[in-house]
Amino acid sequence: MNDRVDRAHFRGRHFLALADYTPPELVELITWAIELKQQRALGHTAQSLAGKTLAMIFEKSSTRTRVSFEVGMAQLGGRALFLSRDDIQIGRGETVADTARTLSRYVDGIMIRTFAQKTVVELARNASVPVINGLTDLSHPCQALADYMTIAESKGALQGRKLAYVGDGNNMAHSLMIGGVKLGVHVAVSTPPGYEPASEVVHIALDAARNGGGHYTYHEDPRDAVRGADVVYTDVWASMGMEAEQHVRERAFESYRVDAQLFGLARPDASFMHCLPAHRGEEVTADVFDGARSIVFDQAENRLHAQKAILLALMSHA
Ligand code: CP
Ligand code: NVA
Repeated sequence: MNDRVDRAHFRGRHFLALADYTPPELVELITWAIELKQQRALGHTAQSLAGKTLAMIFEKSSTRTRVSFEVGMAQLGGRALFLSRDDIQIGRGETVADTARTLSRYVDGIMIRTFAQKTVVELARNASVPVINGLTDLSHPCQALADYMTIAESKGALQGRKLAYVGDGNNMAHSLMIGGVKLGVHVAVSTPPGYEPASEVVHIALDAARNGGGHYTYHEDPRDAVRGADVVYTDVWASMGMEAEQHVRERAFESYRVDAQLFGLARPDASFMHCLPAHRGEEVTADVFDGARSIVFDQAENRLHAQKAILLALMSHA
């Protein structure tokens, strides 16, 4: 884990899933993000992406992803183009491949938030510039990278930490599982029956754990996941695109709410994390969400720094 990765090694690659990056590469991106955060605090941000443009395709809503990528590009001297599905021809049936080929003639990178992971893969296969996954139904790698940066800042080291994820076995659970096991973290997931993480992701996590030094466990009872955890993480019960299941899910997830009693089983210094947006009273009670050990807005801030590291890694020629 101590082998430093040459930063030139990231150039021109895509950022589609944490599974595509080795443990030392993830450590390097987190190190880079922490450096960028420190430089920003001192008022020094090198304009290393001057003259470069990032296209941002959004097929779902966003506050953090949109603003942090747009501000990140601006801080690095470049610019970002916001393209909702209603603005571009993809919404009227132009293929993902043709969109990728066209945008590649204009821009230096493409960020996309969409439904199917295969759309991101198809975009990347046909683009001649780096493609970044800004969330799919399967994964949210930018958020998980920022989250492990946040844990590293808050806890000092990632190796040997325990992260309990309670709730839906969704995109967030998946990226936290894969990133965590690669970074030496024990990721303990608890979901209601029928809402477990996808089996293909579990296989990747179990396989990745062999190299990363972390491990993955599943627990039907959330108390078993949370006991002794350094971090307790939850996410919405109905992700974007699943709004029609809201009421069914509210019943299924009722005993998976992170409240003071459940959070109390974690270590006394445990942090509460949530990728946001959150629903107080649903997946987490307000006392935990707004409590002294909640680091949810540090996570939100770190999206900016982590993504600046990703943008520089993939797009800079300096
Ligand atoms: N956490 C996250 O990706 O937030 P947005 O949906 O607001 O981008
Ligand atoms: N799981 C949530 C994450 C939002 C950032 C969703 O996909 O809606």
